[in-house]
Amino acid sequence: MPASRRGSGSQNLPTGQTTLAMHTRTQDEEDLPHATKKTMVDHLRKYESAFTLTPQRMRMITEAFKDTLEHGLKEYGQIVPMIPTYVFGWPTGEEKGDFLAVDLGGTNLRVCLVTLQGEGKFEITQTKYRLTEEQKHGDGEKLFDFCAECLQTFINTNTPEDGTGLIKPGQELALGFTFSYPCAQERIDHGQLIRWTKGFGAHNTEGRDVAAMFRTSLEKLHLPVKLTALINDTTGTLIASHYVNPRTKIAVIFGTGCNAAYMENVSEIGKIDNLGIEKSAQMAINCEWGAFDSFQHEHLPRTKYDQIVDETSNKPGEQAFEKLISGRYLGEILRLVICELTDEGVLFLGQNTYKIEKAYSFDTAFLSLMESDPTEELLMIIGIFSHFFALETTLAERQFFRALARLVGRRAARLSACGIAAIVGKMGYLEEGCAVGADGSLYNKYPKFADRVHEGLQDIFGDKGRNIVTHHAEDGSGVGSAIIAAMTKIRKEKGIYAHV
Ligand code: GLC
Repeated sequence: MPASRRGSGSQNLPTGQTTLAMHTRTQDEEDLPHATKKTMVDHLRKYESAFTLTPQRMRMITEAFKDTLEHGLKEYGQIVPMIPTYVFGWPTGEEKGDFLAVDLGGTNLRVCLVTLQGEGKFEITQTKYRLTEEQKHGDGEKLFDFCAECLQTFINTNTPEDGTGLIKPGQELALGFTFSYPCAQERIDHGQLIRWTKGFGAHNTEGRDVAAMFRTSLEKLHLPVKLTALINDTTGTLIASHYVNPRTKIAVIFGTGCNAAYMENVSEIGKIDNLGIEKSAQMAINCEWGAFDSFQHEHLPRTKYDQIVDETSNKPGEQAFEKLISGRYLGEILRLVICELTDEGVLFLGQNTYKIEKAYSFDTAFLSLMESDPTEELLMIIGIFSHFFALETTLAERQFFRALARLVGRRAARLSACGIAAIVGKMGYLEEGCAVGADGSLYNKYPKFADRVHEGLQDIFGDKGRNIVTHHAEDGSGVGSAIIAAMTKIRKEKGIYAHV
């Protein structure tokens, strides 16, 4: 650790002890050697040029993105895998019945019971269970055993013996398993995990069929369920959003991870030519676009902070696009900039900076809070730095942090626009326009994220970019999963492409 980071706060006393940070000081005191307003403005200029994307650059990225998507449809084993999901066409809105959904995709595990009532209506009952780091990084079989145990608890709670519960004793339910990691699917109830993303790393799982693993865990507990469909959150979001808003043609998730799904013509999916599916049919594609530009790093504008995030991640080289956009990484990017300036002796001289030096200590939620601080003094930012990092800040520094958050957040939104534009361009949706169902913490909670995506679309397409409008999606992992389970049940009962 560079000594300069502790600034004068780490000066040694004659006894050899290190001085501690003086938390009782306030920002009004002038005795700490803070950076001047001019210094901060000069620094900001440097970061502005590193993090800003011009419309021209965005158009270049979009073109490269489009080529990558097309390539992934033709051949297996591509970096952006463009995964056929075996979800055929749109729901009719008339799907009905009770379905269970298990959603494993990030911080929590969620179990839901969804009642589809037809005409695009539904009811949902759900319970969330927290996942521990141990479960995310331990043995994969144990992770699926835990999912099955949570499902068991949920079923037991909702199935009282007197038959008054949501689930009737003896009732067997179809289960949709939303597993939001890239899985190569040969059919809808199968999926071989290509790689973990979003910091997960349970061993003994990559390369294996996660649907089969989960089924084994369900069988151990003799649960009255049939795993009907393995679903990605984006595919669920696509179907659920279309269920309530038929103008929806694309779904995107901007959360811990970042990905998209859309409905493709089977005639365009060259790599499944051998499956005997009619060319006129349609199938949802899970793009797994977070992997765009992985390993090669030819198209995306990566700063040195992005490179550090990548190199120190558990999967260097992978998920290059996701690492510039998703909520898992934005806070860390900003933290690395702050630490650089601390190392250079620009920030926090005389203060103890060990808290902010800890990797991933700067939550992405702080960026949204900083950007939306309504006070002139930027009191929210004072609070974040003093409460979480025991650091004092001046107004000039706080204005700098806020501007930095804006740069990082805006870049993420504009890159997201490039991904959406690539699908829009590929499918020819620009003239007629379309709705894009969007979900995830970044989209839902980061102020201006959606506006910036829209602004980005106009930078790429000009005025016609206004035809593409994102909206908050329906709950894809719960409702979407249930609709897909229902669609699959109907399809298989009718014997339509029953082999996939
Ligand atoms: C990651 C996963 C992907 C998921 C996305 C959003 O990119 O690989 O499957 O859809 O996160 O949760």
